[in-house]
Amino acid sequence: MAHAGGKIILFGEHAVVYGTPAIAAAIEVGARAEVQKAECTTMHVKPWDVEVSPDCGEPLGDALAAVLSDYPGFGVRIDASADIPGGAGLGCSAALGVAVIKALDEFFGVERSPEERAIFSMKWEGVFHGNPSGVDNTVASCGGVVSFRKPNEIEPLKVGKTLTFVVAHSGVSSSTKTMVDGVRKIYEREPETTQKSIDAIEAIVVNARRAIEDGDEKKLGQLMEANHLLLGGLFVSSPELEHLCAIARKAGAFGAKLTGAGGGGCMIALCPEDKAEYVRAELAKAAEFTLITRIDATKG
Ligand code: PMV
Repeated sequence: MAHAGGKIILFGEHAVVYGTPAIAAAIEVGARAEVQKAECTTMHVKPWDVEVSPDCGEPLGDALAAVLSDYPGFGVRIDASADIPGGAGLGCSAALGVAVIKALDEFFGVERSPEERAIFSMKWEGVFHGNPSGVDNTVASCGGVVSFRKPNEIEPLKVGKTLTFVVAHSGVSSSTKTMVDGVRKIYEREPETTQKSIDAIEAIVVNARRAIEDGDEKKLGQLMEANHLLLGGLFVSSPELEHLCAIARKAGAFGAKLTGAGGGGCMIALCPEDKAEYVRAELAKAAEFTLITRIDATKG
């Protein structure tokens, strides 16, 4: 069974679409897929009980058709499942796409490096997001914590100290495409001001990279707050996300921000290790679901 993880974006979402770097980390939960020979080609996605074929006209079928054109033309049955909800900002579609491609590669004996798979999986992501930066599928393919810049600059980061994040879902599902379109409209209306926000986010990403390397959690928390404010200025936050961020701060997080496309979906809170369970319990009172994920310090 092929597996690919979801992701959290620590810094730089939305700005990454305009060519600045973003920092993202893989999470264990994601998607799985298995391929077997069949009469005709179908894909069944378990938690949603959806079955599609490449010519069914649904986005999932279109995504499948986009990647299948690279493989021999005989029928396959793909059984896939996702452990994270779509529209949550956790990279569900990318995890599913990369898991399906990994399973197809295994089945057809195609050799591909994680970096090559990241590039190939843009075909899948493009169907769902129109103009994806590629950060989600890159992290799903390569794992770890990376600095990513469009179109395919990937740098694994050194992590000075293990970082503990609580992830909480606002209970509202949102469309990445709609949120990215919204920022594009703001950019078109106010190019100079919006570019200043993007530049400011880039400065935060550069400083955050240093703070990750140094293991400086306090600084990282402050940078998360600053990044969140700038995202709010691009109208991608929501009352539910603001509420969750406020809860996390009050409960003792170093900092909190929305993660992914926003408008709903998830927020993340960087927590002192000994406060993470408490922050999670406080967030759980208002969130659809919560989880704790850690980015391990780099050895050596
Ligand atoms: O919400 P997600 O997991 O689809 O993340 C989207 C990240 C954006 O920067 C908003 C879009 C992109 O393509 O990078």
